[in-house]
Amino acid sequence: MINLYGKSRANWIVIALAIVIGLSSIVYTNALVNQLLVQEDQQTAIFADIQEYVANVANPDENINALTDIINKNDYLPLILTDEQNRPQAWRNVRLPARGDTLAFLRKRIARMRAEHQPIEFEVAGTRNLIYYEHSTLVSQLRVYPYIQLGVTILFFFFVYVLFSASRKAEQNKVWVGLAKETAHQLGTPISSLLAWLEYFKLDENFDQSIVGELEKDVKRLEMITARFSSIGSPPVLKPENLGEIVASVVEYLEKRLSTKVKISVNINHDFGEIIAPLNQPLFEWVVENLCKNAVDAMSGAGRIDIGVGYTKEARFVQIDFKDTGKGIPSGMFKRVFQPGFTTKKRGWGLGLTLVKRIVENYHQGKIFVAESRVDVGTTFRVLLPTE
Ligand SMILES: Nc1ncnc2c1ncn2[C@@H]1O[C@H](COP(=O)(O)OP(=O)(O)OP(=O)(O)O)[C@@H](O)[C@H]1O
Ligand SMILES: [Mg+2]
Repeated sequence: MINLYGKSRANWIVIALAIVIGLSSIVYTNALVNQLLVQEDQQTAIFADIQEYVANVANPDENINALTDIINKNDYLPLILTDEQNRPQAWRNVRLPARGDTLAFLRKRIARMRAEHQPIEFEVAGTRNLIYYEHSTLVSQLRVYPYIQLGVTILFFFFVYVLFSASRKAEQNKVWVGLAKETAHQLGTPISSLLAWLEYFKLDENFDQSIVGELEKDVKRLEMITARFSSIGSPPVLKPENLGEIVASVVEYLEKRLSTKVKISVNINHDFGEIIAPLNQPLFEWVVENLCKNAVDAMSGAGRIDIGVGYTKEARFVQIDFKDTGKGIPSGMFKRVFQPGFTTKKRGWGLGLTLVKRIVENYHQGKIFVAESRVDVGTTFRVLLPTE
């Protein structure tokens, strides 16, 4: 009836968008990092050239301040200048440890730098010198940056999604509850008027009293439906009730209206006495009715529904199993059948199980799930209701 796939498709689009944004940021930043690496390589080479020039070529009269300035102004590239035997002679932007062996520290650092790049060679007065260097912290920061950005983007989309779905759920709740309240309210007036008419007909001796009896049943049914809508539209009122009796009475009502080829049995485990749990009776009857109707729909005309009622271990919950011999539910669909709008029926609204779940979980703090199902064999829906 309703587009089943719309919501999940929208979710995938949002996730895909987050990934695309994150990945493009990684690719772009990587390109930037690579450019920076090349620039830093070139810069180090220039430093080496300048060193060489200053040491060898520059004549004593020449003003070399501008050149040494270039080297001195480097306040980001870590460099270590060594002689031919790799003995450190000078360094820049290398933070030495406050205590300990400076030389050992520098040697370690040189080894690390060598692993990253070949040193740049230059000559001073006929001897070979080396400049070891590594890339600036800016580059290492830039390297992690896109991953942080990706994380932040995903987190952002996640929060937006949670926020939207929470507000959408709140909205749906309002519509649902409002509609139920309004329906109950609107049905109230004609029902009281029908009840008044019934009293009037009962007193009229000329009126066929068997018809009055039938009419009364229908009006009572209407009254019960109104009670359901009114209960779902107001804060739940729960009273300790005898579950076995309620289930049995709903089944009795349903059986009269079903084909004789569908058999319903109610099996109550009395080992621990009567089965009592806090309930809202009109709403709970709705649950039983919906689950039985679905079970009947799942059969092709004939079959069995076995309802088992009992306590779970330590009597913390009452467990009601609805086991049918219908067409079954494929295992991947156990959760989806509860989604609003999900139906496989021509005339279905896909609302029955949504309503049932709502009544069990929101109004009774219970649980409902598909306990077992096999295609072409049958399904068991399990309802757990807290006993306190
Ligand atoms: N006992 C069952 N056996 C097999 N399939 C089931 C059973 N109960 C529910 N389903 C599947 O779950 C779907 C959703 O059920 P739900 O009661 O929410 O809606 P519906 O029965 O299709 O429509 P309606 O709104 O009239 O109840 C059904 O269309 C059916 O495919
Ligand atoms: Mg249904």
